Amino acid sequence: MCVTMNTEQPFSTSETVEPPGDISADDFRAALHRAADLAADYLEQVHDYPVVPKIEPGDVRALLPTEPPEEGEPLDQILDDYKRVIEPRTTHWNHPGFMAYFAVTGSGPGIIGETLASTLNVNAMLWRTGPSATELEEHTCDWLRQMLQLPEGLHGHINDTASISSLLALAAARERLVDLDIRRKGMAGRSDLPPLTMYCSDQAHSSIDKAAITLGVGLEHMRRIPSDEAFRLRIDKLEEAIAADKAAGCRPVAVVGTLGTTSTTSIDPLPEIAAIAKRENMWFHVDGAYALSAGICPEYRALMEGVEHADSVVTNPHKWLFVPVDCSVLWVRDPDLLRRAFSIIPDYLTTTETNVTNLMDYGVQLGRRFRALKMWMVLRAFGVKGLQERIRYHCALAKDLAAWVDAQPGLERVAPTPFSTVCFRAVPDLPPDEQDEFNERLVAAVNRAGPVFVSHTRLRERFVLRISIGNLRTRPEHVEQAQQLVTRAHGQLLAEL
Ligand SMILES: Cc1ncc(COP(=O)(O)O)c(C=O)c1O
Repeated sequence: MCVTMNTEQPFSTSETVEPPGDISADDFRAALHRAADLAADYLEQVHDYPVVPKIEPGDVRALLPTEPPEEGEPLDQILDDYKRVIEPRTTHWNHPGFMAYFAVTGSGPGIIGETLASTLNVNAMLWRTGPSATELEEHTCDWLRQMLQLPEGLHGHINDTASISSLLALAAARERLVDLDIRRKGMAGRSDLPPLTMYCSDQAHSSIDKAAITLGVGLEHMRRIPSDEAFRLRIDKLEEAIAADKAAGCRPVAVVGTLGTTSTTSIDPLPEIAAIAKRENMWFHVDGAYALSAGICPEYRALMEGVEHADSVVTNPHKWLFVPVDCSVLWVRDPDLLRRAFSIIPDYLTTTETNVTNLMDYGVQLGRRFRALKMWMVLRAFGVKGLQERIRYHCALAKDLAAWVDAQPGLERVAPTPFSTVCFRAVPDLPPDEQDEFNERLVAAVNRAGPVFVSHTRLRERFVLRISIGNLRTRPEHVEQAQQLVTRAHGQLLAEL
Protein backbone atom coordinates (compact mmCIF):
# COMPACT_ATOMS: atom_id res chain seq x y z
CA MET A 1 0.00 0.00 0.00
CA CYS A 2 1.24 3.43 -0.91
CA VAL A 3 1.68 6.00 1.85
CA THR A 4 0.04 9.24 0.78
CA MET A 5 1.73 12.49 1.69
CA ASN A 6 0.59 16.05 1.71
CA THR A 7 2.30 17.34 -1.40
CA GLU A 8 1.50 21.00 -0.83
CA GLN A 9 4.93 22.64 -0.73
CA PRO A 10 5.71 25.92 1.00
CA PHE A 11 7.47 26.95 -2.21
CA SER A 12 8.35 25.34 -5.45
CA THR A 13 11.94 25.06 -6.67
CA SER A 14 10.92 26.42 -10.07
CA GLU A 15 9.82 29.70 -8.45
CA THR A 16 12.97 30.06 -6.41
CA VAL A 17 15.50 32.09 -8.31
CA GLU A 18 18.48 31.23 -6.10
CA PRO A 19 18.68 27.87 -4.35
CA PRO A 20 18.95 28.49 -0.60
CA GLY A 21 22.34 26.73 -0.34
CA ASP A 22 25.19 27.72 1.95
CA ILE A 23 26.40 31.22 2.76
CA SER A 24 28.22 32.87 -0.14
CA ALA A 25 31.85 32.06 -0.81
CA ASP A 26 32.77 35.68 -0.08
CA ASP A 27 30.94 35.74 3.24
CA PHE A 28 32.55 32.42 4.16
CA ARG A 29 36.02 33.65 3.30
CA ALA A 30 35.60 36.89 5.22
CA ALA A 31 34.21 35.14 8.30
CA LEU A 32 36.89 32.46 8.22
CA HIS A 33 39.58 35.14 8.03
CA ARG A 34 38.04 36.80 11.04
CA ALA A 35 37.79 33.43 12.83
CA ALA A 36 41.49 32.89 12.06
CA ASP A 37 42.26 36.23 13.71
CA LEU A 38 40.09 35.35 16.68
CA ALA A 39 41.88 32.01 17.08
CA ALA A 40 45.38 33.49 16.72
CA ASP A 41 44.60 36.41 19.06
CA TYR A 42 43.14 33.99 21.59
CA LEU A 43 46.20 31.76 21.65
CA GLU A 44 48.50 34.78 21.86
CA GLN A 45 46.60 36.37 24.75
CA VAL A 46 45.10 33.41 26.57
CA HIS A 47 47.35 34.06 29.59
CA ASP A 48 45.35 37.23 30.29
CA TYR A 49 42.35 35.17 31.35
CA PRO A 50 42.04 33.37 34.67
CA VAL A 51 42.48 29.68 33.77
CA VAL A 52 39.03 28.84 35.14
CA PRO A 53 36.35 31.46 34.51
CA LYS A 54 34.89 32.98 37.64
CA ILE A 55 31.32 32.06 36.86
CA GLU A 56 28.50 29.99 38.31
CA PRO A 57 26.56 27.17 36.65
CA GLY A 58 23.82 28.66 34.45
CA ASP A 59 25.67 31.94 33.82
CA VAL A 60 26.37 31.06 30.18
CA ARG A 61 22.80 30.10 29.36
CA ALA A 62 21.51 33.22 31.06
CA LEU A 63 23.36 35.25 28.42
CA LEU A 64 21.74 33.42 25.49
CA PRO A 65 18.30 34.07 23.99
CA THR A 66 15.85 31.42 25.19
CA GLU A 67 14.49 30.88 21.68
CA PRO A 68 16.33 30.10 18.45
CA PRO A 69 16.65 32.87 15.84
CA GLU A 70 13.81 32.89 13.31
CA GLU A 71 15.92 34.66 10.70
CA GLY A 72 19.56 33.95 9.93
CA GLU A 73 21.97 36.32 11.62
CA PRO A 74 25.12 37.92 10.17
CA LEU A 75 28.22 35.86 10.91
CA ASP A 76 30.00 38.96 12.18
CA GLN A 77 27.38 39.30 14.88
CA ILE A 78 27.69 35.64 15.82
CA LEU A 79 31.48 35.95 16.01
CA ASP A 80 31.08 39.07 18.18
CA ASP A 81 28.98 36.99 20.57
CA TYR A 82 31.52 34.16 20.46
CA LYS A 83 34.20 36.64 21.56
CA ARG A 84 31.98 38.31 24.17
CA VAL A 85 30.05 35.37 25.64
CA ILE A 86 31.70 32.06 24.83
CA GLU A 87 35.46 32.58 24.81
CA PRO A 88 35.76 34.22 28.24
CA ARG A 89 33.48 31.64 29.86
CA THR A 90 35.45 28.55 28.99
CA THR A 91 38.11 26.86 31.06
CA HIS A 92 41.29 27.67 29.20
CA TRP A 93 43.09 24.42 28.48
CA ASN A 94 45.50 26.42 26.31
CA HIS A 95 46.49 28.62 29.26
CA PRO A 96 50.12 28.25 30.35
CA GLY A 97 48.86 27.92 33.94
CA PHE A 98 46.61 24.97 33.13
CA MET A 99 48.25 22.19 35.15
CA ALA A 100 45.21 20.11 36.07
CA TYR A 101 44.19 16.58 35.01
CA PHE A 102 46.52 15.86 32.09
CA ALA A 103 47.29 19.27 30.67
CA VAL A 104 46.64 19.02 26.95
CA THR A 105 47.10 21.61 24.22
CA GLY A 106 45.84 21.68 20.68
CA SER A 107 48.71 23.15 18.67
CA GLY A 108 48.50 25.54 15.70
CA PRO A 109 49.14 22.82 13.11
CA GLY A 110 46.48 20.63 14.74
CA ILE A 111 43.93 23.45 14.71
CA ILE A 112 44.57 23.99 11.01
CA GLY A 113 44.10 20.27 10.39
CA GLU A 114 40.84 20.29 12.36
CA THR A 115 39.55 23.24 10.34
CA LEU A 116 40.39 21.62 7.02
CA ALA A 117 38.89 18.30 8.14
CA SER A 118 35.57 20.01 8.78
CA THR A 119 35.89 21.76 5.44
CA LEU A 120 36.16 18.42 3.65
CA ASN A 121 33.49 16.99 5.97
CA VAL A 122 34.13 13.46 4.78
CA ASN A 123 32.57 10.57 6.57
CA ALA A 124 35.24 7.88 6.32
CA MET A 125 33.05 4.91 7.10
CA LEU A 126 34.24 3.17 3.92
CA TRP A 127 37.40 3.55 1.88
CA ARG A 128 35.10 4.64 -0.97
CA THR A 129 33.55 7.44 1.11
CA GLY A 130 36.90 8.75 2.28
CA PRO A 131 39.95 7.36 0.48
CA SER A 132 42.43 9.97 1.70
CA ALA A 133 40.94 9.94 5.22
CA THR A 134 41.21 6.16 5.41
CA GLU A 135 44.70 5.90 4.03
CA LEU A 136 46.04 8.89 5.95
CA GLU A 137 44.65 7.33 9.13
CA GLU A 138 46.45 4.06 8.45
CA HIS A 139 49.59 5.92 7.45
CA THR A 140 49.80 8.31 10.39
CA CYS A 141 49.04 5.51 12.87
CA ASP A 142 51.95 3.66 11.36
CA TRP A 143 54.20 6.73 11.59
CA LEU A 144 53.35 6.98 15.26
CA ARG A 145 53.94 3.25 15.71
CA GLN A 146 57.41 3.71 14.24
CA MET A 147 58.09 6.74 16.43
CA LEU A 148 57.23 4.66 19.49
CA GLN A 149 59.17 1.65 18.19
CA LEU A 150 56.14 -0.59 18.57
CA PRO A 151 56.28 -3.89 16.69
CA GLU A 152 55.79 -3.89 12.95
CA GLY A 153 52.48 -5.21 11.74
CA LEU A 154 50.33 -3.68 14.48
CA HIS A 155 47.16 -2.35 12.93
CA GLY A 156 46.33 1.19 14.06
CA HIS A 157 43.18 3.19 13.74
CA ILE A 158 41.85 6.33 15.35
CA ASN A 159 38.97 6.63 17.80
CA ASP A 160 37.66 9.64 19.65
CA THR A 161 38.95 8.71 23.10
CA ALA A 162 40.98 6.16 25.02
CA SER A 163 37.76 5.06 26.70
CA ILE A 164 36.44 3.88 23.35
CA SER A 165 39.80 2.47 22.26
CA SER A 166 40.00 0.33 25.42
CA LEU A 167 36.39 -0.74 25.05
CA LEU A 168 37.04 -1.93 21.50
CA ALA A 169 40.23 -3.72 22.54
CA LEU A 170 38.42 -5.57 25.31
CA ALA A 171 35.56 -6.40 22.95
CA ALA A 172 38.15 -8.03 20.66
CA ALA A 173 39.47 -9.92 23.70
CA ARG A 174 35.96 -11.23 24.36
CA GLU A 175 35.49 -12.12 20.69
CA ARG A 176 38.60 -14.24 20.92
CA LEU A 177 36.66 -16.71 23.09
CA VAL A 178 35.28 -18.43 20.00
CA ASP A 179 33.79 -21.33 21.94
CA LEU A 180 31.45 -18.95 23.76
CA ASP A 181 30.05 -17.45 20.53
CA ILE A 182 29.07 -14.25 22.32
CA ARG A 183 28.61 -12.15 19.19
CA ARG A 184 25.79 -14.41 18.07
CA LYS A 185 24.29 -15.67 21.28
CA GLY A 186 24.88 -12.70 23.57
CA MET A 187 25.47 -13.19 27.28
CA ALA A 188 22.02 -12.96 28.81
CA GLY A 189 20.31 -16.01 30.27
CA ARG A 190 23.02 -18.48 29.32
CA SER A 191 23.69 -21.29 31.77
CA ASP A 192 26.64 -22.44 29.65
CA LEU A 193 28.57 -19.20 30.13
CA PRO A 194 31.13 -19.01 32.93
CA PRO A 195 31.61 -15.60 34.58
CA LEU A 196 34.21 -13.76 32.49
CA THR A 197 36.88 -11.96 34.50
CA MET A 198 39.22 -9.13 33.58
CA TYR A 199 42.09 -7.65 35.57
CA CYS A 200 43.67 -4.24 36.07
CA SER A 201 45.32 -2.44 38.97
CA ASP A 202 43.48 -0.38 41.56
CA GLN A 203 45.07 2.62 39.81
CA ALA A 204 43.64 1.86 36.35
CA HIS A 205 41.43 4.46 34.71
CA SER A 206 37.67 4.31 35.19
CA SER A 207 37.30 3.74 31.44
CA ILE A 208 38.38 0.14 32.02
CA ASP A 209 35.51 -0.31 34.46
CA LYS A 210 33.17 1.26 31.93
CA ALA A 211 34.35 -1.23 29.32
CA ALA A 212 33.54 -4.06 31.76
CA ILE A 213 30.08 -2.59 32.29
CA THR A 214 29.45 -2.17 28.57
CA LEU A 215 30.71 -5.62 27.60
CA GLY A 216 28.53 -7.39 30.15
CA VAL A 217 31.52 -8.51 32.22
CA GLY A 218 30.21 -6.50 35.16
CA LEU A 219 32.10 -4.49 37.74
CA GLU A 220 32.15 -7.42 40.13
CA HIS A 221 34.23 -9.38 37.62
CA MET A 222 36.58 -6.52 36.82
CA ARG A 223 39.24 -7.42 39.34
CA ARG A 224 41.05 -4.37 40.62
CA ILE A 225 44.36 -5.77 41.78
CA PRO A 226 46.16 -3.92 44.61
CA SER A 227 49.15 -1.80 43.67
CA ASP A 228 52.51 -1.55 45.42
CA GLU A 229 54.13 1.40 47.19
CA ALA A 230 54.90 3.00 43.81
CA PHE A 231 51.31 2.46 42.60
CA ARG A 232 52.19 -0.39 40.22
CA LEU A 233 50.04 -3.48 39.86
CA ARG A 234 51.21 -6.22 42.25
CA ILE A 235 52.10 -9.33 40.29
CA ASP A 236 51.68 -11.65 43.29
CA LYS A 237 48.14 -10.38 43.79
CA LEU A 238 47.38 -10.77 40.09
CA GLU A 239 48.54 -14.38 40.20
CA GLU A 240 46.44 -15.03 43.30
CA ALA A 241 43.32 -13.50 41.78
CA ILE A 242 43.61 -15.46 38.54
CA ALA A 243 44.17 -18.72 40.43
CA ALA A 244 41.19 -18.06 42.71
CA ASP A 245 38.97 -17.17 39.76
CA LYS A 246 39.92 -20.27 37.83
CA ALA A 247 39.27 -22.42 40.90
CA ALA A 248 35.84 -20.80 41.19
CA GLY A 249 34.98 -21.63 37.57
CA CYS A 250 35.50 -18.15 36.11
CA ARG A 251 37.11 -17.58 32.73
CA PRO A 252 39.96 -15.01 32.83
CA VAL A 253 39.76 -13.07 29.56
CA ALA A 254 42.02 -10.05 29.64
CA VAL A 255 44.48 -8.10 31.73
CA VAL A 256 45.08 -4.38 31.37
CA GLY A 257 48.47 -2.88 32.20
CA THR A 258 48.61 0.89 32.55
CA LEU A 259 51.58 2.78 31.26
CA GLY A 260 51.16 6.09 33.08
CA THR A 261 48.25 5.82 35.48
CA THR A 262 45.92 8.76 35.78
CA SER A 263 46.67 9.71 39.37
CA THR A 264 50.45 9.33 39.55
CA THR A 265 51.64 8.20 36.05
CA SER A 266 52.95 4.97 37.57
CA ILE A 267 53.87 2.17 35.19
CA ASP A 268 52.64 -1.35 35.76
CA PRO A 269 55.23 -4.17 35.41
CA LEU A 270 54.37 -4.81 31.77
CA PRO A 271 56.86 -7.63 31.02
CA GLU A 272 55.59 -9.69 33.98
CA ILE A 273 51.95 -9.00 33.10
CA ALA A 274 52.67 -10.01 29.50
CA ALA A 275 54.18 -13.30 30.65
CA ILE A 276 51.15 -14.10 32.79
CA ALA A 277 48.77 -13.17 29.98
CA LYS A 278 50.64 -15.49 27.65
CA ARG A 279 50.68 -18.35 30.12
CA GLU A 280 46.97 -17.96 30.92
CA ASN A 281 45.98 -17.39 27.30
CA MET A 282 44.57 -13.99 28.20
CA TRP A 283 44.45 -10.82 26.14
CA PHE A 284 47.01 -8.19 27.18
CA HIS A 285 45.88 -4.59 26.70
CA VAL A 286 48.15 -1.63 27.49
CA ASP A 287 46.53 1.68 28.40
CA GLY A 288 49.15 4.30 27.58
CA ALA A 289 46.58 7.04 26.98
CA TYR A 290 48.86 9.72 28.39
CA ALA A 291 52.40 8.46 28.90
CA LEU A 292 53.06 6.24 25.92
CA SER A 293 53.70 9.40 23.88
CA ALA A 294 56.88 9.91 25.90
CA GLY A 295 58.18 6.76 24.22
CA ILE A 296 59.08 8.86 21.20
CA CYS A 297 62.09 9.97 23.29
CA PRO A 298 64.69 7.17 23.39
CA GLU A 299 65.53 7.88 27.03
CA TYR A 300 61.95 6.99 28.08
CA ARG A 301 61.73 3.79 26.10
CA ALA A 302 63.16 1.65 28.88
CA LEU A 303 60.07 2.54 30.94
CA MET A 304 57.89 1.09 28.20
CA GLU A 305 59.47 -2.34 28.21
CA GLY A 306 56.85 -5.03 27.76
CA VAL A 307 54.49 -2.96 25.64
CA GLU A 308 55.78 -4.86 22.60
CA HIS A 309 54.01 -7.99 23.88
CA ALA A 310 50.59 -6.36 24.01
CA ASP A 311 47.66 -7.60 21.97
CA SER A 312 46.39 -4.03 21.95
CA VAL A 313 47.81 -0.64 22.89
CA VAL A 314 46.17 2.75 23.16
CA THR A 315 47.64 6.22 23.30
CA ASN A 316 45.98 9.60 22.91
CA PRO A 317 47.75 12.06 20.63
CA HIS A 318 45.24 14.56 22.02
CA LYS A 319 46.82 14.18 25.44
CA TRP A 320 50.55 14.69 24.97
CA LEU A 321 51.19 15.03 21.26
CA PHE A 322 49.49 18.39 20.77
CA VAL A 323 46.70 17.17 18.51
CA PRO A 324 43.42 18.94 19.36
CA VAL A 325 40.80 16.88 21.21
CA ASP A 326 39.73 14.29 20.12
CA CYS A 327 42.25 11.76 18.80
CA SER A 328 43.05 8.35 20.29
CA VAL A 329 45.07 5.71 18.48
CA LEU A 330 44.37 2.03 19.08
CA TRP A 331 46.79 -0.57 17.72
CA VAL A 332 45.88 -4.24 17.67
CA ARG A 333 48.01 -7.20 16.78
CA ASP A 334 45.11 -9.06 15.14
CA PRO A 335 42.68 -6.65 13.48
CA ASP A 336 40.62 -9.58 12.31
CA LEU A 337 39.33 -9.95 15.87
CA LEU A 338 38.02 -6.38 15.82
CA ARG A 339 36.33 -7.09 12.50
CA ARG A 340 34.90 -10.32 13.84
CA ALA A 341 33.55 -8.43 16.82
CA PHE A 342 32.03 -5.53 14.92
CA SER A 343 31.78 -5.91 11.18
CA ILE A 344 28.26 -5.95 9.76
CA ILE A 345 27.85 -4.97 6.12
CA PRO A 346 24.29 -4.19 5.13
CA ASP A 347 23.43 -3.98 1.41
CA TYR A 348 23.50 -0.20 1.38
CA LEU A 349 27.15 -0.20 2.53
CA THR A 350 28.62 -2.71 0.13
CA THR A 351 31.27 -1.46 -2.28
CA THR A 352 33.13 -3.02 -5.16
CA GLU A 353 36.64 -2.42 -3.83
CA THR A 354 38.39 -5.41 -2.42
CA ASN A 355 41.50 -5.31 -0.28
CA VAL A 356 40.73 -1.92 1.20
CA THR A 357 40.24 -0.91 4.81
CA ASN A 358 36.70 0.10 5.61
CA LEU A 359 37.01 1.83 8.96
CA MET A 360 33.40 1.07 9.92
CA ASP A 361 34.48 -2.57 10.41
CA TYR A 362 36.72 -1.77 13.39
CA GLY A 363 34.29 -0.51 15.98
CA VAL A 364 30.77 0.39 17.00
CA GLN A 365 30.34 3.60 15.08
CA LEU A 366 29.59 3.79 11.40
CA GLY A 367 30.43 7.40 10.61
CA ARG A 368 33.77 8.86 11.56
CA ARG A 369 35.54 12.17 11.38
CA PHE A 370 38.76 12.75 9.47
CA ARG A 371 40.93 12.91 12.59
CA ALA A 372 44.11 11.80 10.87
CA LEU A 373 44.44 15.14 9.09
CA LYS A 374 45.19 17.07 12.27
CA MET A 375 47.57 14.35 13.47
CA TRP A 376 49.38 14.42 10.13
CA MET A 377 49.74 18.21 10.34
CA VAL A 378 51.17 18.00 13.86
CA LEU A 379 53.58 15.15 13.12
CA ARG A 380 54.86 16.96 10.04
CA ALA A 381 54.98 20.49 11.42
CA PHE A 382 56.87 19.55 14.61
CA GLY A 383 58.65 16.46 13.32
CA VAL A 384 59.89 13.76 15.64
CA LYS A 385 62.61 16.04 16.99
CA GLY A 386 60.22 18.88 17.72
CA LEU A 387 57.84 16.58 19.57
CA GLN A 388 60.71 15.05 21.55
CA GLU A 389 61.92 18.52 22.56
CA ARG A 390 58.50 19.50 23.82
CA ILE A 391 57.97 16.33 25.85
CA ARG A 392 61.47 16.61 27.33
CA TYR A 393 60.83 20.21 28.25
CA HIS A 394 57.66 19.27 30.15
CA CYS A 395 59.44 16.46 31.97
CA ALA A 396 62.30 18.81 32.90
CA LEU A 397 59.86 21.39 34.30
CA ALA A 398 58.17 18.62 36.32
CA LYS A 399 61.51 17.40 37.66
CA ASP A 400 62.33 20.90 38.89
CA LEU A 401 58.91 21.12 40.49
CA ALA A 402 59.37 17.73 42.18
CA ALA A 403 62.75 18.87 43.53
CA TRP A 404 61.12 22.05 44.85
CA VAL A 405 58.40 20.04 46.62
CA ASP A 406 61.04 17.78 48.14
CA ALA A 407 62.86 20.81 49.52
CA GLN A 408 59.78 22.36 51.16
CA PRO A 409 59.28 21.77 54.87
CA GLY A 410 55.63 20.86 55.38
CA LEU A 411 55.14 19.40 51.89
CA GLU A 412 55.59 15.77 50.97
CA ARG A 413 55.82 14.23 47.51
CA VAL A 414 53.68 11.12 47.56
CA ALA A 415 54.64 9.33 44.34
CA PRO A 416 57.59 9.02 41.98
CA THR A 417 57.60 11.44 39.04
CA PRO A 418 58.56 9.39 35.97
CA PHE A 419 57.05 11.87 33.49
CA SER A 420 55.57 15.33 33.98
CA THR A 421 53.03 14.93 36.77
CA VAL A 422 53.86 15.69 40.39
CA CYS A 423 51.71 14.45 43.29
CA PHE A 424 52.20 15.96 46.73
CA ARG A 425 50.42 17.04 49.86
CA ALA A 426 50.85 19.28 52.85
CA VAL A 427 51.49 17.41 56.08
CA PRO A 428 50.42 19.72 58.91
CA ASP A 429 50.43 18.25 62.38
CA LEU A 430 46.79 17.15 62.29
CA PRO A 431 44.84 13.86 62.34
CA PRO A 432 44.56 12.27 58.84
CA ASP A 433 41.00 13.46 58.11
CA GLU A 434 41.83 17.02 59.05
CA GLN A 435 44.99 16.81 56.95
CA ASP A 436 42.79 15.89 54.01
CA GLU A 437 40.54 18.86 54.66
CA PHE A 438 43.61 21.09 54.89
CA ASN A 439 44.80 19.86 51.48
CA GLU A 440 41.35 20.33 49.95
CA ARG A 441 41.41 23.92 51.15
CA LEU A 442 44.93 24.27 49.77
CA VAL A 443 43.85 23.24 46.26
CA ALA A 444 40.83 25.53 46.43
CA ALA A 445 42.95 28.49 47.53
CA VAL A 446 45.55 27.94 44.80
CA ASN A 447 42.88 27.68 42.12
CA ARG A 448 40.89 30.65 43.43
CA ALA A 449 43.81 32.96 42.65
CA GLY A 450 43.32 32.56 38.88
CA PRO A 451 46.67 32.23 37.12
CA VAL A 452 47.02 28.48 37.62
CA PHE A 453 44.68 25.51 37.78
CA VAL A 454 45.82 22.34 39.54
CA SER A 455 43.84 19.21 40.30
CA HIS A 456 43.73 16.58 43.01
CA THR A 457 43.37 12.86 43.52
CA ARG A 458 43.21 10.38 46.38
CA LEU A 459 46.05 7.96 47.00
CA ARG A 460 45.59 5.29 49.65
CA GLU A 461 42.52 7.24 50.78
CA ARG A 462 44.49 10.43 51.32
CA PHE A 463 43.73 13.66 49.44
CA VAL A 464 46.69 14.89 47.38
CA LEU A 465 47.47 17.74 44.98
CA ARG A 466 48.39 16.94 41.44
CA ILE A 467 50.28 19.25 39.09
CA SER A 468 50.59 18.06 35.52
CA ILE A 469 52.73 19.87 32.97
CA GLY A 470 51.89 19.23 29.36
CA ASN A 471 50.96 22.57 27.95
CA LEU A 472 52.80 24.06 24.98
CA ARG A 473 52.82 27.51 26.57
CA THR A 474 53.95 26.55 30.07
CA ARG A 475 57.34 28.03 30.95
CA PRO A 476 59.42 28.05 34.14
CA GLU A 477 57.80 31.28 35.34
CA HIS A 478 54.37 29.63 35.28
CA VAL A 479 55.58 26.72 37.36
CA GLU A 480 57.23 29.20 39.75
CA GLN A 481 53.94 31.02 40.00
CA ALA A 482 52.26 27.75 40.98
CA GLN A 483 54.95 27.24 43.62
CA GLN A 484 54.42 30.76 44.99
CA LEU A 485 50.67 30.23 45.16
CA VAL A 486 51.11 26.93 46.99
CA THR A 487 53.57 28.53 49.42
CA ARG A 488 51.31 31.50 50.11
CA ALA A 489 48.12 29.44 50.54
CA HIS A 490 49.95 26.89 52.65
CA GLY A 491 51.27 29.63 54.96
CA GLN A 492 47.85 31.26 55.28
CA LEU A 493 46.14 27.97 56.09
CA LEU A 494 48.76 27.13 58.71
CA ALA A 495 48.29 30.57 60.25
CA GLU A 496 44.53 29.96 60.49
CA LEU A 497 44.96 26.68 62.38
C1 LIG B 1 45.43 6.27 31.79
C2 LIG B 1 44.17 6.81 31.17
N1 LIG B 1 43.41 6.01 30.42
C3 LIG B 1 42.28 6.44 29.85
C4 LIG B 1 41.87 7.74 30.00
C5 LIG B 1 40.59 8.19 29.35
O1 LIG B 1 40.87 9.04 28.30
P1 LIG B 1 39.74 9.54 27.32
O2 LIG B 1 39.25 10.83 27.90
O3 LIG B 1 40.43 9.73 26.02
O4 LIG B 1 38.67 8.53 27.26
C6 LIG B 1 42.62 8.63 30.78
C7 LIG B 1 42.21 10.01 30.96
O5 LIG B 1 42.88 10.83 31.53
C8 LIG B 1 43.81 8.14 31.38
O6 LIG B 1 44.56 8.92 32.15
